[in-house]
Amino acid sequence: MSRPIPIKSDPRCFVALDLPSVTEAEAMVEILGDAVQSYKIGLQLLPIGGVELGQRLKAMGKNIFYDFKFHDIGATVEKATRSLAGLKADLLTVHARPDVMRSAALGRGNSSLKILGVTVLTSLDRQALRDIGYNDNAESLVMRRVEQALDAGIDGVVSSPLEAAAIRAAVPDHFLVVTPGVRPKGADAGDQKRIATPADALQSGASHLVIGRPVTQAEDPRAAALAIAKEMSGY
Ligand code: C5P
Repeated sequence: MSRPIPIKSDPRCFVALDLPSVTEAEAMVEILGDAVQSYKIGLQLLPIGGVELGQRLKAMGKNIFYDFKFHDIGATVEKATRSLAGLKADLLTVHARPDVMRSAALGRGNSSLKILGVTVLTSLDRQALRDIGYNDNAESLVMRRVEQALDAGIDGVVSSPLEAAAIRAAVPDHFLVVTPGVRPKGADAGDQKRIATPADALQSGASHLVIGRPVTQAEDPRAAALAIAKEMSGY
């Protein structure tokens, strides 16, 4: 009789539940079972029951990352963050503008919710930044915003894996560096341009990874998640 394969999820890997409905997201969670411990719920599901989904997953013992990317006047960001801090959640994103990050840190208060600043969206290249009035290139803007995130007292940043090494060199060990744009070897890059493998991202200093389609669109999502966890286990 063959022995069952040991299941080892890696809580540092947040699987992005970018699916059209809560029903489909719950079916995916069911398929993934104990192969995945951490989920990111983003803009596609948040307006249609994503927050409640996150609370149900939390009750099942999962880690939850709400990817709201808040960006508003300070008072509103503070109150919105306070609303989320009253729920059970682990991570929340805001845009990495100094006033927005400071307000999120205030709204989070003493709760265990960790705040991440989205440094520069990976879809913005130099020309796109110029078009919106920034003279910095993406790399120096990222580093400026990392300094501002540290000053604001938030817990970490979201960045491309290609910037993780420079960020890690500039921040304390406990500061979170969360990287999307992660593709296991041989996986389809999709619309992600600046990508790295899970091992390379961790080696560069990422503390957590966000991986969506390489798991959720895989023929066997559970096997894909376990393969990623196995690759991560060496780092
Ligand atoms: O499917 P894929 O692995 O590309 O999903 C990556 C996830 O990370 C998506 O939910 C996307 O919104 C998010 N993300 C990103 N790039 C950023 C910030 C967030 O891909 N700069």
